[in-house]
Amino acid sequence: MARLAALARTVAAAVQPGMTVGLGTGSTADAVIRELGRRVRDGLALRGVPTSRRTAKLARELGIRLVSLEEVDRIDLGIDGADEIDPALNATKGRGGALLHEKLVALACADYVLVAAAEKLVPRLGSRLPLPVEVVPFGWQHTAARLERLGIRPALRPEPDHPSGPFHSDGGHVILDCDIGPLAEPEALATGIKAVAGVVDHGLFLGIAHRAYIAETDGSVREIARPTTPGR
Ligand code: A5P
Repeated sequence: MARLAALARTVAAAVQPGMTVGLGTGSTADAVIRELGRRVRDGLALRGVPTSRRTAKLARELGIRLVSLEEVDRIDLGIDGADEIDPALNATKGRGGALLHEKLVALACADYVLVAAAEKLVPRLGSRLPLPVEVVPFGWQHTAARLERLGIRPALRPEPDHPSGPFHSDGGHVILDCDIGPLAEPEALATGIKAVAGVVDHGLFLGIAHRAYIAETDGSVREIARPTTPGR
C-alpha cells in the first residue's frame, strides 16, 4: 500500500548509522523493516532487535544484522505497529500475537515510536478491537474465568492454520482476546489484568510510546509527539 510505503520511508529516515533498532511485528512494522533492508543494502550499518521469530526471519532475509534483547543494554530506537492508539499515545497491541516480546523490547528503547494508519487512532482504547492477553496454557480456562470477573469477555485465540487448536506465542503461551469495550481508565484495567494468576502480560502499552507516525488517508505522514516524557 502506497500509504504504508510513505510511512515506512519517513520512519526509516530517522535511523542513524550505528543505531540499535527495535524491530516490531505486523504488516506496518514489516513495511518499515523492508525499507530498513533497502537502507542496509545502500550501506547503512545498524543492529536490529527483533520482537518475533517472524520479524527475525524477514530481517535476516533482508540482510539486517540481528542481536537479541539479552545481548544489548539498551535500544536507541524502537519502531512498532499498533492496533489502537489514543490521544495520549497509549496503545493496544498484540493482534499479531507478539505482545510480550514487543513490550519487553519497547521498554528497553530510549526512543519508542508507533507507526500506524490513521484508522488506528481512537478516542478510547478498546473502541475497535478486543484486547489480547497472553496467559500460560496450564489451566487457561481458569485464568479466563478470573479475567471475566474483571468485567471483560475472553475468547481463546485459535491457530489460524489449524483452527481446532489454540495459537501459541513465541514464548509458548496462549492468547485470550478480551472484549473490553471503550476504556475510560486503561490503567485500572491494566493493573487488574496483571494481578490475575496465569496472566503473563497484556496488550495495553500505557505511557510507553514517545512518538507516533501516522499515515493519513491523503497519503501524508503526520508525527505526533507525547507532550511529556512517559513514565515507565
Ligand atoms: C503484533 O503482535 C502486533 O502488536 C502488531 O504490532 C499490531 O497488531 C499491528 O499490526 P499491523 O501493523 O499488522 O496492523
